[in-house]
Amino acid sequence: MTTHKLFLLPGDGIGPDVMTQVEKIAAWFGEAGLAHFEIEKGLVGGCAFEAHGKAISEGDMRLAQAADAVLLGAVGGARWDGVPYDVRPEAGLLRLRKDMGLFANLRPAICYPALAEASSLKREVVEGLDIMIVRELTGGVYFGEPKQIIDLGNGQKRGIDTQVYDTFEIERIGRVAFDLARKRGGRVTSSEKRNVMKSGVLWHEVMTALHAREFSDLKLDHQLADALGMQLVRWPKQFDVIVTDNLFGDMLSDVASMLTGSLGMLPSASLGEADPVSGQRHALYEPVHGSAPDIAGQGIANPIAMIASFAMALRYSFGMATEADLVERAIASVLQDGLRTADIQGSATTTISTAAMGQAVKEKLTQLAAG
Ligand code: IPM
Ligand code: MG
Repeated sequence: MTTHKLFLLPGDGIGPDVMTQVEKIAAWFGEAGLAHFEIEKGLVGGCAFEAHGKAISEGDMRLAQAADAVLLGAVGGARWDGVPYDVRPEAGLLRLRKDMGLFANLRPAICYPALAEASSLKREVVEGLDIMIVRELTGGVYFGEPKQIIDLGNGQKRGIDTQVYDTFEIERIGRVAFDLARKRGGRVTSSEKRNVMKSGVLWHEVMTALHAREFSDLKLDHQLADALGMQLVRWPKQFDVIVTDNLFGDMLSDVASMLTGSLGMLPSASLGEADPVSGQRHALYEPVHGSAPDIAGQGIANPIAMIASFAMALRYSFGMATEADLVERAIASVLQDGLRTADIQGSATTTISTAAMGQAVKEKLTQLAAG
């Protein structure tokens, strides 16, 4: 049985609540004789600040770099609103992304049939939805320099962020999007604001050239980011793969999450460049949702996005696509049975706890694996 090294960073708020459920699922794989996961744990975010005075320690950074995959829960909370900017909880997550070179963020938005009624949109708009948002994750306004607040000396200050993209950054995220589209519906929608941003003009130009050069068998179209936000809630099924920059991707993926019924449903994978020889790549998997401090520790958070993030790790880090499908089928089937955490209740459903949801998925795995 192959052994895989998983590094868990549960983080803050509901992060630990949902991560505990993934540990159950990982343990199931061992019990079923399918794969053995060797697990280490570390701290990121506010909890790391409490322990080390920074959002992630050097030791935990090394463990993250050495792991086959990192699973992260969530970071942040009002408790740390006052801490210095450089050591705020989010800095830990951003450092992991940057130092591990995780430039490609895959955020699939799938509406499970049983959840079509949990969405704030009409059933016919979301039923059967299956789109993939590919967000650039190590560039753009998140990391561009200068990034500062300067004192203008006249009682005024100036806040500056820099949106910057180089050709190679646009090309490599474009390739990820086109490669995914080739295995899906063959369509990519690229999104920027070229009507007001130079980085958008370059983004559009590079995507168009890349498509013509390497992917002309696929369909590429472009939509301005504001219009794309509107189209996402108007008729989301028009999309297959959406590729966009760091900031637009952050916003659009939150919008997309509500199409699926709840922010508690959306997993994500953040991937680095594959090593040309071994094919190995750094990878971090995390739910799109935040730390939800208001419900932390109450046993009511939805662990599905976290469990589905583990399924993505099976698919993208461990070459276990069949097993990833199995986990996703188990989730769909539990929902079909009417079991729901508080955020995704429908008519005639049973509300269960975080732990009960983890247990239900685990039991479903046993049933499905048996046949
Ligand atoms: C996300 C989050 C992060 C981001 C925060 C926590 C820094 O919103 O992963 O979408 O803005 O990228
Ligand atoms: Mg976000």
